[in-house]
Amino acid sequence: MRITDTSDLWWKTAVVYCLDVETFMDWNGDGVGDFEGLSHRIDYLAQLGITCIWLMPFYPTPDRDDGYDIVDFYDVDDRLGSLGDFVEFVRTANDRGIRVIADLVVNHTSDKHPWFRSARSSKDSPHRDFYVWRSDEPPDTSAEVVFPGEQEGIWEYDEKTKEYFLHRFYKHQPDLNVANPAVRDEIARIMGFWLQLGLAGFRVDAVPFFLETLGASEAEQQSFGDPHEYQRALRSFLGRRRGEAIMLGEVGLPYEEQMAYFGGVDGDELTMQFDFEAMEQMYLSLARQDARPLAETLRRRPEISREAQFATFVRNHDELHLGLLSEEEMQEVFAAFGPEERMQVYGRGLVRRLPPMLDGDPRRIRMVYSLMFALPGTPVLFYGEEIGMGENPDLDGRLAVRTPMQWSPDENAGFSTAPARKLVAPVVEGGFGPEHINVEDQRHDPDSLLNFVATLIRQFRESPEIGWGEYELLDQPHDAVLAHRCSWQGSSVIALHNFAAEPCTVPLELKSLDGDAVLVDLLQPGRTPLEEGRAELTLDGYGYRWLRISRPDELRLA
Ligand code: GLC
Repeated sequence: MRITDTSDLWWKTAVVYCLDVETFMDWNGDGVGDFEGLSHRIDYLAQLGITCIWLMPFYPTPDRDDGYDIVDFYDVDDRLGSLGDFVEFVRTANDRGIRVIADLVVNHTSDKHPWFRSARSSKDSPHRDFYVWRSDEPPDTSAEVVFPGEQEGIWEYDEKTKEYFLHRFYKHQPDLNVANPAVRDEIARIMGFWLQLGLAGFRVDAVPFFLETLGASEAEQQSFGDPHEYQRALRSFLGRRRGEAIMLGEVGLPYEEQMAYFGGVDGDELTMQFDFEAMEQMYLSLARQDARPLAETLRRRPEISREAQFATFVRNHDELHLGLLSEEEMQEVFAAFGPEERMQVYGRGLVRRLPPMLDGDPRRIRMVYSLMFALPGTPVLFYGEEIGMGENPDLDGRLAVRTPMQWSPDENAGFSTAPARKLVAPVVEGGFGPEHINVEDQRHDPDSLLNFVATLIRQFRESPEIGWGEYELLDQPHDAVLAHRCSWQGSSVIALHNFAAEPCTVPLELKSLDGDAVLVDLLQPGRTPLEEGRAELTLDGYGYRWLRISRPDELRLA
């Protein structure tokens, strides 16, 4: 393995930034963000240091699930611009060293999609089998819904043809029938189309549901065979069309089950998966001010193939999912970070961003982002995290965290010149509103969260040990402290994170090191000599330190 491999397997050291075009920057003043606005902000993102943009769905949509309900897989929603604007954006991002991936939402379509309109018009429609139908009355499926409280079951009766169709998500999102070869052809065509226009891969939506064949006919299931064979075939197809392209899958399952979606030890299915387990356990650790839940999770995280990668994250566009915790653990996190009912959704999540959950405490907020960038894997930021944006609790459910990007303290947070009532979503108000939290102010403040995150990104990019290396948890006496070491190519970075308010001193014993090595701080000035591999390191309350082990003959920059 060589340093130049980091360009080949680029995703292993990437910094991903997720955004929704419609809430990022509005350039034509209609209240809706657009590709032109986004293109104007590429230099901001490049300066921040991110290397990959993940675009949430930008396809034509009736917008009943924030764009995850698509009516045309081959176009850009009119409100956001044109295919031409899209291509110019991708080209400009690429010029600044930024790759672009986008949501691939092919578990379902909108019920307004021409395929579904045709499918429901008659049982003889050529598109009938694009979807999953049953004629007999379904049993009670209320326990299987993804959005409890917003959905009653997973089968919906269709008056015209008097059959039920499958919808894993909302009833306006009929599931595509992946067991039908014609559907699979379309999926390949959709992927090929966007790869040809410059995408470097996809964030694949709802993978386990996408691959399931519930409700397909016996014959279809037989000929479809093992869904993982299909996922393997998709990965190969992706590689043939664009060698460097990735599939970053949404698989919100425990590690053991995620392994199958990576393609086991062969790693020939999804390139990356979000690490939901570590994310959820991190919140438990924060709630308890005890690093052990996270440490134990990292200890049992399975080894994956050299090319595969876990994506680490603190928040995403959905609810803060806590469904992998036990009921009591989830209640602990609710009590700490979202005690009010309106902060909770679906009995398993919180609709808040991190800073309000931590009462805006800058020490804790910085500790969490330091941790995210130091955890083994590829960090994924959700827009606005870099400035510490909060949510708008008045918005329904998951929409609370999808408010306009806060660029300046001005009207509409500098997002749009349209009248406030025309904005695609209302701006956050109060303590986390744009008067207090915005890019413009933070750009000019060397001590801002924005500049801190930029520093983390720079150090992460200069520390391929984190994205590529092997990691180990280091023994030390404090339950509140997570101490880990990432090593690669004979070089190591050590990270210490204190989940508690009390400062402490962490004694470290690093085996197999001679007396000449020094620990060089990467986030602040400081050098600590190691004596026979031992050092004592102080940590503030909620403190964090990254240290590179530097030997006298070290060529790597520290
Ligand atoms: C995924 C998305 C979510 C969406 C759902 C249906 O879970 O993250 O936002 O509602 O799929 O497409």
